[in-house]
Amino acid sequence: MPDRNDAVALLEAWVENDGLRKHMYAVEAAVRHYARMRGADEELWGLAGLLHDLDWEKYPERHPLTAVESLREQGYPEEVLQAILAHRADFTGVEPTSDLDRVLVACDELSGLVFAACLVRPTGIDDLTPKSVVKKLKDRTFAAGVSRDEVQHGIEMLGLERSEHIQNVIDGLRAVAEELGIRGQDVSR
Ligand SMILES: [Fe+2]
Repeated sequence: MPDRNDAVALLEAWVENDGLRKHMYAVEAAVRHYARMRGADEELWGLAGLLHDLDWEKYPERHPLTAVESLREQGYPEEVLQAILAHRADFTGVEPTSDLDRVLVACDELSGLVFAACLVRPTGIDDLTPKSVVKKLKDRTFAAGVSRDEVQHGIEMLGLERSEHIQNVIDGLRAVAEELGIRGQDVSR
C-alpha cells in the first residue's frame, strides 16, 4: 500500500495552488484526529483526507473521478477510493456508507471555515473556540465559499453536537498548526 510519503509526492505534483494544498493537509489532520479518537487506521484515513481533492485543480469537471482512476492504478486501498468518491456523492452517485466516508464529508467544508477563522484572528488557532467558529458559521459573508448546508449535513451525518465536532476539527488542525501557518505568531506577522 502506498504510504503518506507517496501521497504527499502526488499532492505536490498534482496541486499547484498553495491554498488548496493547505486545505488538503488540514482535512488530513482533522480526519487523522478522528481516526485516533475512534481507534481506526490513522494512516489509511489520513490518505483519504490528504488526497480527496487531488484532481480538483487539474480536472475540475471530472473531480474526483480522474484522481480515483489514477489512485486505483497505483494500488491505493478501496476504502480510500470509496471515501474520495463519496465526498462528492452528488456528482459520483457514491453515497457515504463507512465511518471514514462520513468523517471525510464532515471535516471537508468545516476545516475550510476553521482555517479561515484562524487567519483573521491575531492569536490564530491558539485560543480558538467552537463558539467563535459558530459565530463565523452564522455570518454568511465570512468565507462565503464554505457551504453552510454542507457543514450542517456533515454534522448530522456524524450524529455529534455541532460544538463537539467543531472542537474535534480544531484539535485536529492544532496538531499541525505550525505546518499550516495558523498559530498566533504566524498569522499576526
Ligand atoms: Fe475538500
